[in-house]
Parts: sequence; C-alpha cells; structure tokens
Amino acid sequence: MIRVPVSGAGFQPYEVLVGRGLTPRIGELCAPFVKGSVAVVTDETVAAIHGPAVLGALETVGVKARLIAVLAAGLDRSDLVVALGGGVVGDLAGLAAALFMRGVDFVQVPTTLLAQVDSSVGGKTAIDTPRGKNLVGAFHQPRLVVADIDALKTLPPRQLRSGWAEVLKHGLICDAALFDWLGGEGAAGAAGDPAALERAVARSVEIKAEVVGQDERESGRRALLNLGHTFGHALEAELGFGDALTHGEAVALGCAMAFRFSAGQGLCAPADAERAEAGIAAAGLPTRLDQAGAFAVDALMTRMAGDKKAVGGRLTLILAHGIGRAFVAKDVDGDALRAFLIAEGATG
Ligand SMILES: NC(=O)c1ccc[n+]([C@@H]2O[C@H](COP(=O)([O-])OP(=O)(O)OC[C@H]3O[C@@H](n4cnc5c(N)ncnc54)[C@H](O)[C@@H]3O)[C@@H](O)[C@H]2O)c1
Ligand SMILES: [Zn+2]
Repeated sequence: MIRVPVSGAGFQPYEVLVGRGLTPRIGELCAPFVKGSVAVVTDETVAAIHGPAVLGALETVGVKARLIAVLAAGLDRSDLVVALGGGVVGDLAGLAAALFMRGVDFVQVPTTLLAQVDSSVGGKTAIDTPRGKNLVGAFHQPRLVVADIDALKTLPPRQLRSGWAEVLKHGLICDAALFDWLGGEGAAGAAGDPAALERAVARSVEIKAEVVGQDERESGRRALLNLGHTFGHALEAELGFGDALTHGEAVALGCAMAFRFSAGQGLCAPADAERAEAGIAAAGLPTRLDQAGAFAVDALMTRMAGDKKAVGGRLTLILAHGIGRAFVAKDVDGDALRAFLIAEGATG
C-alpha cells in the first residue's frame, strides 16, 4: 500500500491510500474517524458490486453502517459519510457532507479510475444544475481517501480508458517521465493491469496532492489541472454531455488540441505536440475533432470564451511549452483560437 499525504495551509492534512485488497480493510482504515455510525452513500451499480463487501468490512470492526442512495433522513453530526463510487457519488456525498450541519466528516472510497486519480482528492465537491455543470458546490476535504486498485476490475474498459486520460493529463502537465512511462512500460494499465494501474494512480495522486496543497482554492497553480478541459468541456457541452463522448475522452482530445494550438502559436515544438498526440492515441483515446463529431466554430468559441468575451477578445487557456511543461496562458488571442478551430475541422 502506498500512502500519499495531502496537506495545505487551509485544511486538515489527510492521506490517500493506494493499493490492492483495500476494500476488505475499509472498517479498520475508517475506524479512527468513526464517532457515531457510518452512512455509505453509493449508486445502484456500485451498491450491487461493492456494497456488501464494504458494509461487511465495517461491521467486522463493530461499526454500525448502512447503505443509502440519498442523504436525507437519519444523519447525525457525529456520523461519518463514506462515499463509495465514481465521481458522481463522490461529488454528491461530499457536497452533502459539506452542507449538513455545516460539515460532517467524510471518507472517499473511489471505485472508478477517474475518481481515484482526480475527483476524490482535493476537496472540490459540486453538483450540476440545469443552468450548468458544477454550479452548486463547496470545498470540503475528506478525512481519508481509500483507492483500492482491485475495485477497478469490474469497471467497463471505456470507463477505465476515460480515467487513463486524466493520468496522461498529469504527465503532460508536469511529469514528462510519467508520460513516457504511460506510453511504454506502463501502457498495460490502460488495459487493466493492476501493477501498472497502482503506479499510475499513486503518481497521479502525488501530483494532484502537490498542486492542491499549494493552491486549494484555485487562485493560481491548481488551474493547471484544467489542461485539455476548456477545449474538452466545449465539446462535451456541444454534444449534450451524453454517451457520444465521455469526460475523459473529451479531456484526451482537449489535451491533444491544447498541444497542437501551443505548437501553432510557437509556444512548443511541433514534435512535442506529435508526441502528446501519439501517446493519447496509443491508449485508445480520441485526438482529432472528427472522432468526436461535427462542430460549429462559433458554438465552440462561445463555449470556450464565455459569452462576454466571445470574438476578438483575449481568454485564458492552459497551454504548454513542451511535455510536462504546462502553463496558464492569460492572454490568448480569440482570433487565433478561431482560426485554429477551423483548421481542426470546425465549420465556419
Ligand atoms: N470534484 C472534482 O474535483 C471532480 C473532478 C473531476 C470530475 N468530477 C466529476 O466526476 C464525475 C464523473 O465521475 P466518473 O467518471 O467516476 O463517473 P460516475 O461516477 O458516473 O461512474 C461511471 C459509471 O461507472 C459505474 N461504476 C463506478 N464504479 C464501478 C466499478 N468499480 N465497477 C463497475 N461500475 C462502476 C457507476 O455506477 C457509473 O455508472 C462528473 O460528474 C464530474 O463532474 C469531479
Ligand atoms: Zn477532468
């Protein structure tokens, strides 16, 4: 088991545990944080697969635990909330834990790769509303994160690849050696190899912990974690957040676009953009717009820039000087971006 500490100025430190065979040990691992009973919040799919093991593990250490789908009745200030599931469950349970009586303790038990490498660490919790994604949210750090690699065995391959996109993203942001390893020896992780997954998750969590520790509230460095997300989010939104493109696929494609745009602006070597694209494609993730659908340039510009500064304005994007060298570009020329999107295949 690998222990990754997460600490920052504004919150109580905690650990992310990454390893195999952790689910049967949930009771023992959560015990230090249990004051009353435990509410395990999950969704129906995960409840059926992992619910009994988690409840059993809590009961063997004498903890009273119950499985619930929504946090409504019977929660007490002394209760511990355990979020068991993917990012949707983690965000919902985390937000509920943040709000209930101004905050009850919670533990994240992420069961998707995306949740293990990204959403379970860092304390951002949010839900979507009809007006947009993540509109209602709070910062509430967990007391512990338990990332059991074995829980990923039951994940559909497409979900695994989608999480892999966020791992690739971490390499592209600040760790060229990680990115190279992911495309070489580590590539088996994208197909489910547990040893490669364990290393990829642990390294990703270290990177996220380091960034969040320096900048919990995203006033600076944490924005780097959005590499590929402004492009990707625009594509997801245009496609209606449906099955056509998962979040991870959108991020993968968005990262490839951010690198090509960087190269086109003379910010990074074209060879680095090609390397980024090849590494992403090798994992079975999309890198070209036409793999996702057909897009109108004006619609993408509006999504990317926000309606106030649509055309001709300047916008902020995460770009790169090379593999592992992402930076916050605050003064991106909207016209150059528009021309780039047309060159990428968006229709004018
Ligand atoms: N808070 C953050 O910092 C942050 C960061 C990134 C993403 N997010 C959020 O995370 C969400 C996406 O998370 P996700 O990709 O984990 O999706 P998800 O939670 O919807 O899970 C994907 C699917 O996999 C199923 N599943 C989960 N674990 C499984 C397992 N072990 N075996 C089989 N099936 C399993 C789920 O039931 C679901 O159907 C989005 O809502 C996004 O906004 C939050
Ligand atoms: Zn993401």
